[in-house]
Amino acid sequence: MNGNKTLIMIKPTAVRKGYIGPIMGKIAEGGFKIKAMKYTRLSLEQAKAFYAVHSERPFYGELTGFMSSGPIVAAILEKENAVEAWRNFIGATNPAEAAEGTIRKLYGTSLGENAVHGSDSDENAGIEGDFFFSATEIF
Ligand code: CMP
Repeated sequence: MNGNKTLIMIKPTAVRKGYIGPIMGKIAEGGFKIKAMKYTRLSLEQAKAFYAVHSERPFYGELTGFMSSGPIVAAILEKENAVEAWRNFIGATNPAEAAEGTIRKLYGTSLGENAVHGSDSDENAGIEGDFFFSATEIF
């Protein structure tokens, strides 16, 4: 993917609390175009593979257990400078530190259960997009 796309997820707690609709509304308000989207559930093995970059971190077990605990929404979003635009839009990783009105402030509850994921680089956006979607699922 080029610098105009990012891979996002709506995490299990946000899905369980009924926040898919409100977050999709925010995505539209923010001017992000949906290129691909699916409602799915990661197995523990898939969550470990997705977050392999964090495998040495002390929270890896908690993170992968949580991310495989229920259904998620995964999507590729398009916007100019999408990775940075999305990260600014959703707010700080810790919802307690996120700016008012951001997705993580509104719908996140803790560092782990922070409502949404966003790729941290163009390179990882490409890798993460390929993790969830084949070419025929991207429009
Ligand atoms: P995300 O954007 O999905 O990328 C990695 C995730 O790790 C991050 O959001 C947080 O939810 C999670 N994370 C980061 N630091 C911690 C931590 N100290 N404890 C639990 N989860 C964390």
